[in-house]
Amino acid sequence: KHILLLGPPGAGKGTQSKRLAEEFDLEHVTTGDALRANKEMDISEMDTEYDTPGAYMDAGELVPDEVVNAIVEEALSSADGYVLDGYPRNLEQAEELSSMTDLDAVVYLSVDTDELVDRLTGRRVCPDCGASYHVEFEPPEESGVCDECGAELVQRDDDTEETVRERLRVYEENTAPVVEHYRGEGVLVEVDGEGTPDEVFEAIADVVDQ
Ligand code: AP5
Ligand code: ZN
Repeated sequence: KHILLLGPPGAGKGTQSKRLAEEFDLEHVTTGDALRANKEMDISEMDTEYDTPGAYMDAGELVPDEVVNAIVEEALSSADGYVLDGYPRNLEQAEELSSMTDLDAVVYLSVDTDELVDRLTGRRVCPDCGASYHVEFEPPEESGVCDECGAELVQRDDDTEETVRERLRVYEENTAPVVEHYRGEGVLVEVDGEGTPDEVFEAIADVVDQ
């Protein structure tokens, strides 16, 4: 299956993609994680505004299409079934994606803006194994410590309130039109992203099962 998960920053794309990948035996293709693993990559030759992906990310801006398209092209070429998370983020990327692959389901997770800010500013992640928590909504058993591996949890550099607001603005400007693009094609299924993680998962799994 080829599943595309769309939604604003903090909608739960990462949380749900991981579960979908396990449950349906799919590859989890995420541009956010791929870019975080390559934050310091030198992209100055591409004649971009900043010299590294990390500089864009920490500012809450989109990393240039050239960089991101190449990541996705490479990841999809070796994936059979996949759940795609964090891409496409503008109409140019959506067009690029349609030239690379076909999609079986496009799921849009909708969540209210105030809730998004609370989720992102309260998120804590494990620098060692990548597990994700929330200080209030999904706290680890011992405060500040990863349940999976015992490492000390950290806040993502782009999860400060100021950068979160900029990411939401960039989403409205660039990515909301992508949602409307798929809606116009009649392939979009909207799922309420405000339930518990289990409830949201059930709703997405229903769509994927069809
Ligand atoms: P990326 O890593 O993709 O970040 P994002 O889209 O902003 O999404 P997040 O990871 O912040 O949120 P999420 O929807 O995955 O939510 P999560 O499950 O973690 O991108 C980061 C940056 O990389 C971009 O700003 C850009 O610079 C660059 N980039 C990436 N892709 C790009 C592209 N295609 N083009 C250009 N640049 C690109 O959940 C969030 C929190 O909420 C967690 O704490 C979680 O525990 C909690 N939570 C989850 N579900 C629930 C629930 N149901 N109820 C309560 N709490 C919940
Ligand atoms: Zn861990």
